[in-house]
Amino acid sequence: MSELDDLTTLVRAATPLLVIETVDEQRVIECFRHVIAQALHPLWRWTLTDGLQRLDFAAAGSVAPDATATLEAIRAQDERGIYLMFDFHGLLGYAMSLRQLREIVQRQRSAAHTIVLVGAKVELPDELEALSLRVPLALPDLKELAGILRGEAVAWQREQNRRIEVDNDAARTIVRNLLGLSAPDARRIVRKLIYADGALGPNDLPVLMQSKFELLNRSGLLHYEYATASFADIAGVARVREWVARRRAVFLAAAPDPVLDPPKGVLLLGVQGCGKSLAAKAIAGGFGVPLVRLDFGTLYDKYQGETEKNLREALTSTELLAPCVLWIDEIEKGLAGGGEDGGVSRRVLGYLLTWMAERKAKVFVVATANAVNELPAELLRKGRFDEIFFVDLPKESVRAEIFGMHLKRRKLDPAGFDLPTLAAASNGCSGAEIEQTIVSALYDAAGNGTPPDQATLLHALQQTRPLSVLMREQVDALRAWAQGRCVAAD
Ligand SMILES: Nc1ncnc2c1ncn2[C@@H]1O[C@H](COP(=O)(O)OP(=O)(O)OP(=O)(O)O)[C@@H](O)[C@H]1O
Ligand SMILES: [Mg+2]
Repeated sequence: MSELDDLTTLVRAATPLLVIETVDEQRVIECFRHVIAQALHPLWRWTLTDGLQRLDFAAAGSVAPDATATLEAIRAQDERGIYLMFDFHGLLGYAMSLRQLREIVQRQRSAAHTIVLVGAKVELPDELEALSLRVPLALPDLKELAGILRGEAVAWQREQNRRIEVDNDAARTIVRNLLGLSAPDARRIVRKLIYADGALGPNDLPVLMQSKFELLNRSGLLHYEYATASFADIAGVARVREWVARRRAVFLAAAPDPVLDPPKGVLLLGVQGCGKSLAAKAIAGGFGVPLVRLDFGTLYDKYQGETEKNLREALTSTELLAPCVLWIDEIEKGLAGGGEDGGVSRRVLGYLLTWMAERKAKVFVVATANAVNELPAELLRKGRFDEIFFVDLPKESVRAEIFGMHLKRRKLDPAGFDLPTLAAASNGCSGAEIEQTIVSALYDAAGNGTPPDQATLLHALQQTRPLSVLMREQVDALRAWAQGRCVAAD
C-alpha cells in the first residue's frame, strides 16, 4: 500500500481538509489506522447514525449526530485529531455548518485537525473546495489481492467441505486482473468465479474481464464490444492490417521494448460506409485484445456539467482493462462544439490530448471520422496519432472482393457470379452500398421466387445512387485533403 505513505505525509503536514470519493468506508478506516500507527493522532469517525466516535481506543460517549454540535465538539478538542466524516458533505448546505467547518479548516480558534470528507461523490461549495485536497484512495495491491483470493478459496472449502481446484497460472492472472478494483469489488468477483464451479482456471478469465468491465463502467460511457472482427472480414485495408501485424508483439510485450515506442493509436478518416467502423473492430481482433467503445454522444447528453469528470473516469477505466483497444467512433461529433457550449468541448479535447500523450497503459486508441473540417487541428498534429489512415472508396479489385465476401455471407456462391463485371458496374459505390445492393437483390429475387443471379444484382446496382455521386463535392474535398496528409489504408 504505497499510497499510504502519501496519506501519512499529508497528515504529518497537517493538511486541514481531505476529500476521498469512495463507497469503501471500511478501507478508508483501515488506511487511516495504518496512518495513525505512525503519526500518532486520535482517530475519529462521524456518521449520521452514530455521531462522533473515537476509533483508536474504546472511549465511552458519543456526540449527537447533529452537524453544528459535531463541529463545535471538534473545535473544542485541544488535541490535534483526524476526523473521518462519512457522508457529512450533505449537511454543508447550512450556512452555519459551512462557516464552522471553514473556521476549523482555517484554524481559527482550533487545533490543527485533519478533516476527511468521505462519500461516493463529494461535492463542495466553492469556498470549501478551494481549501480542500482530493486524494485517490489507495487500492489493494497484488499481495493484498492474492490474500483476498486465498481467503475466499479457504472460506468456500470450509463451507462446502471439499477441495477447490486451482490452476496456479490462472490464479496469478486473475489476481493481476483484479488490480484497480476496490477490495469489496475484488472479493465479490472472486467469489462469483469460485461459486460458479468450485474451481479457478483459465475459463474464468473472460467472465472476470466482463465483470470487471461492468464494475468499472459506472459512468455508462463505455461499451464492451463482444464481437471484434478479423481482417478477413474486410476488404481493402491491407496497409492497416500490415501495420497492426508489425506492431502486435511490441504492443503486447510484458516489458517495454528498448528501442521501439509502443503503438499508441491511429485515426481512420474516410468516406462513409467504406469500412472504418469495421476496421476499428478488426484492429482489436488483430491485436487479440478486448474492444471498448467510448460513447461521446452520451458524454454530452446525459451528464450536463459532469462531462469532464465522466470522461476522466472512463479513460481511467480503460487503463484498468489494458491491454485493450479504445474505439472513439465519429470523434468529430464529440469534439465539434465550437464556442457555443461554454468551452466544454475544448476542455474535453484538451483532456483527451493530454491523456493520449501521457498514458502509460496499453490502451490503443482507434478514432474514426468522416469529416475533417470539423476536426480540431490539434488532434491532427503530428505525433498525436501514430498514423492517420485514409479509407477511400474501394477501387475495382476491392469491390470485386467485397461482392465475393458479402455473397458468401448470404449463402450465395460467388463462383456463380461474374465478379469483375459487378465490380466495374459499381464504380463509386462504398462497401456498405455494395452490401445493400446484394440485400435488395435478395428481396427482388425472393419476390420473383427465383434465386438471385447476375442480372438481379446488376439491376439492383442500376437503382443505386451512390453517396459519392450525391455528395460529390464533399467526397472530392475529403480526398483532396487526405492527399499527402494521410496514408492510404489500402
Ligand atoms: N471494405 C469493406 N469490406 C467489407 N465490407 C465492407 C467494407 N466496407 C463496408 N463494408 C460493409 O458495410 C458495413 C458498414 O461499414 P462501416 O460501418 O464499417 O463503414 P463506416 O466507414 O464506419 O461508415 P460510417 O462513416 O457511416 O460510420 C460493414 O459492416 C460491412 O458489412
Ligand atoms: Mg462507422
